[in-house]
Amino acid sequence: MIGLGKMGLSHLAIVRSHPQVNLVAACDSNAYLTDVLGKHTGLKCYADLDKMLDSEQLDAVVVSTPSKLHAGMVEKALQRGLHVFCEKPFVLDVRDGERLIALADEKKLVTQVGYHYRFVGAFQEAAKVVASGALGEIHHVRAEAYGPVVLRPKGGTWRTAKNEGGGALYDYACHAIDTVGMVFGVPTSVGGVVVNRLFSRDVEDEIYCTMHFGNGASGQLAVNWSDESYRKMSTRLTVWGRNGRLNADRQECQVFLREPHPARPDLTKGWSVRYTTDLTEEVWYYLRGEEYSAQIDHFVKCAGERRADGVNGFRSALDTDRVVAMIRAAEHGEAPGHGPGNGFAAGPTRIPTRSGFWDRLFGREPVARMASKGAR
Ligand SMILES: NC(=O)c1ccc[n+]([C@@H]2O[C@H](COP(=O)([O-])OP(=O)(O)OC[C@H]3O[C@@H](n4cnc5c(N)ncnc54)[C@H](O)[C@@H]3O)[C@@H](O)[C@H]2O)c1
Repeated sequence: MIGLGKMGLSHLAIVRSHPQVNLVAACDSNAYLTDVLGKHTGLKCYADLDKMLDSEQLDAVVVSTPSKLHAGMVEKALQRGLHVFCEKPFVLDVRDGERLIALADEKKLVTQVGYHYRFVGAFQEAAKVVASGALGEIHHVRAEAYGPVVLRPKGGTWRTAKNEGGGALYDYACHAIDTVGMVFGVPTSVGGVVVNRLFSRDVEDEIYCTMHFGNGASGQLAVNWSDESYRKMSTRLTVWGRNGRLNADRQECQVFLREPHPARPDLTKGWSVRYTTDLTEEVWYYLRGEEYSAQIDHFVKCAGERRADGVNGFRSALDTDRVVAMIRAAEHGEAPGHGPGNGFAAGPTRIPTRSGFWDRLFGREPVARMASKGAR
């Protein structure tokens, strides 16, 4: 375990209770934390990552340090042949991500990033409905995330420092963008970017933008981490297709079909609702939500089998980082790829364009066909 703050402590509890994991050691630069953990739980702790890596025989690491430290720490772990679970956002500079993916590939190591919404039953169901084609050609998607992180002026932590990966874009928006990538596809460009500060001095508190997809579909992103009307982060996705629409959040996946579709005979004309309680498998240990345990279990299984094709690998996380870099570049009025320091070295995965029945009928430009998993 590398980093034992808010997220690291959650992962620590989950990892420690996992029946197939032997937790060897942890590392955090905060001596108070490591002293207390060492003394009261017997955990072997280090203050320095290099020392831990030099001293211990490890198979895998979980990186939960402030975001600007991810790239360097992940690289050290990969160089030593360790599988890596890294918290989100994966990296702050896309070029680092490209280098780390190449390194993990070269060493045939398993990688995963902590986008836990990919393990939420209602979002998994949304992805299946979209992939089935039951909604028809998808033409618009909306991703929203709201919550009460910054409700008054405050400062002094990495979360409020722009160059350390702070702000609502890295903290909240990347979850919403990644969920769009999971359910529909990765935007190829963004426009109309609005970035506002409500309470923060150095970072944004809300972000709004339009997303454009390679197949002609459009989308909107709306994120605000200074919304006191929510008790905790709430992420919602809405997808519109020619045959219907779906709304998904952590609690449920609602689907409206204009006409029944043979690919999903269980969904009737009109509204069908699947609840997360019916879609979620039990986990051996519950903390914050099943998805947090499920993602660690997935990583453990993939690492055990050396399966590099698991959910949330570095590649899909880097797609999300690329979208974040595009928003950053647009915020500063830069063309992606040319802005100093945004690291936008390569374009995101393109969604192939295919013309559909209605397009041929009306003789218009191809509009978004459903972005199936294979199309991303
Ligand atoms: N997936 C999620 O829902 C989610 C939620 C919260 C945070 N996160 C991510 O998790 C990461 C950590 O966030 P957090 O809220 O736990 O932050 P935090 O500030 O609470 O914890 C970070 C920990 O890292 C330690 N640390 C700092 N520098 C270090 C170093 N050089 N070596 C070893 N330890 C060091 C700190 O002492 C601290 O204990 C971030 O990337 C964040 O974006 C993800």
